[in-house]
Amino acid sequence: MAHSTVADIPVNIYRPKDPYVGKAVDNIRLTPEDSPNDVRHVVLDLSEGSLRYIEGQSIGIVPPGTDANGKPHKLRLYSIASSRIGDHKDSKTVSLCVKRVVYKHPETGAEVRGVASNHICSLKPGDPVMITGPVGKSFLLPEDPTMNIVMIATGTGIAPFRAFLRHIYDEMPTPWQGEVWLFFGVQTSVDLLYHDELVGYTEKSGGKFKLMTAISREQKNAEGGRMYVQHRIAEHADTLWSMVQQRNTCTYICGLRGMEDGIDVAFTTAAAKQGLEWPAYQFDLKQSDLWHVETY
Ligand SMILES: Cc1cc2nc3c(=O)[nH]c(=O)nc-3n(C[C@H](O)[C@H](O)[C@H](O)COP(=O)(O)OP(=O)(O)OC[C@H]3O[C@@H](n4cnc5c(N)ncnc54)[C@H](O)[C@@H]3O)c2cc1C
Ligand SMILES: NC(=O)c1ccc[n+]([C@@H]2O[C@H](COP(=O)([O-])OP(=O)(O)OC[C@H]3O[C@@H](n4cnc5c(N)ncnc54)[C@H](OP(=O)(O)O)[C@@H]3O)[C@@H](O)[C@H]2O)c1
Repeated sequence: MAHSTVADIPVNIYRPKDPYVGKAVDNIRLTPEDSPNDVRHVVLDLSEGSLRYIEGQSIGIVPPGTDANGKPHKLRLYSIASSRIGDHKDSKTVSLCVKRVVYKHPETGAEVRGVASNHICSLKPGDPVMITGPVGKSFLLPEDPTMNIVMIATGTGIAPFRAFLRHIYDEMPTPWQGEVWLFFGVQTSVDLLYHDELVGYTEKSGGKFKLMTAISREQKNAEGGRMYVQHRIAEHADTLWSMVQQRNTCTYICGLRGMEDGIDVAFTTAAAKQGLEWPAYQFDLKQSDLWHVETY
């Protein structure tokens, strides 16, 4: 499916009141059994409906049952982790990368389980899943294959970037020509989701794809604290600043909202060396579709 204008991009084909009922096809744990983080790659079948999507979009999942007030559960959004043809390459599936949310209630200490993430992470092949969307018309790849792409992810924020990489290196008739950089932050080395695929692209891209990891609980930043993606970005800030100034670089940020301030600090420092103010420059990049953020 080729898309030439924003108007062609499919959105909201299915809504919460009339969702598409798909089926789980695969549910693969990406993190080891003994890791405290249970992150799943889940493949859903779309073959009986008309939902189609492109890289960078999200879908909604409506958990079954009702909430504490007896009302149907509200949908939760998930970034799509597969490219438009799906992992089975037949345009009949969509894949997600979902972390099982389990935490202790801050006041009672009781274990709380996130409604939608536990529904998805416990799916078995054949189980029904209520799907809405797709949504998203801006967190999308540029059309010009000479553009540079800078991707910054924490944890499951890797999902849309897996889709981007599969599309540009596995599916495009000629490989992407611009530089493609991925900064990826996780807690420990075993949490490096899709690591083999990512490493594979460093070779497949002919050296155009660079992977920079920040492993917060195994590496230290310059101040001796946890190594986060923003610290890796600070190490490359002058180069990144020069790339965004050339106006041929699209930057994408996905995952935890907390990383945004640190990324801004790195760019503020680099821009100040030339007497420029980062917030104004960043505003202009956003207006020009060169800076995209999906953080939560
Ligand atoms: C555009 C978009 C894309 C997203 N993509 C993904 C994705 O690709 N993968 C993914 O896993 N998630 C993604 N999410 C998050 C997802 O939508 C859900 O918010 C998440 O899975 C939790 O939903 P839940 O129903 O399991 O939890 P809920 O039942 O909704 O509970 C979550 C709530 O619990 C509370 N909570 C959670 N953790 C703690 C804690 N440690 N301490 C105290 N309180 C806490 C918070 O109030 C939080 O709002 C995305 C969100 C958006 C908006
Ligand atoms: N992927 C998404 O799109 C998305 C969207 C919304 C919500 N969520 C929810 O957010 C939760 C987090 O799960 P996750 O797997 O994505 O992430 P995670 O495993 O909790 O964290 C990923 C990495 O980000 C680091 N980190 C924490 N605070 C940071 C900060 N302020 N700046 C930079 N890095 C920081 C973590 O370090 P430390 O833990 O070692 O400090 C870890 O190294 C999940 O419950 C998920 O549902 C995800």
